[in-house]
Amino acid sequence: MLKNFHIMLAYLTVLGFVVRGVWSLLDSPMRQEKWVKIAPHVIDTLLLTLGVLLVIDLGLAPFSGWLSAKLLGLVAYIGFGVLAMRAQSRSLKIFGFSAALLCVGYIFAVAFTRSAWPLVAA
Ligand code: HEM
Repeated sequence: MLKNFHIMLAYLTVLGFVVRGVWSLLDSPMRQEKWVKIAPHVIDTLLLTLGVLLVIDLGLAPFSGWLSAKLLGLVAYIGFGVLAMRAQSRSLKIFGFSAALLCVGYIFAVAFTRSAWPLVAA
């Protein structure tokens, strides 16, 4: 139940990020809508909270290898995401957007394989 909700939010954060990324590149006025600014914070806070609850529920070591890799990936996803949304130049925005998508792809791969090196594990 917790895990299903966590997974649903994981897909939702990526979907929301892609939509906002496209709006950012198109300079769409939709970006200024209040709900568009608030929703990602609500989704990401819930995603993180459920992640922490899952760690407790499953009795995992808080900083086991794959979990730390996931958290590092998360920090990078957030950092590149901010760049994608706030950069002044279009090329920097595209760079931030692509790098953030790579990071979140890595997070998914780590989540599914439970390995910090998903390509080796696969
Ligand atoms: C963008 C951020 C995140 C994404 C995209 C994500 C994605 C996922 C996905 C897809 C799964 C399901 C894997 C499976 O089917 O076995 C999962 C499981 C899990 N995630 Fe996350 N997650 C994120 C953040 C976090 C954070 C921040 C934490 C911890 C603080 C966390 C802890 C967990 C745990 C404990 C599981 C269950 C692993 C297991 O069943 O052994 N996640 N995550």
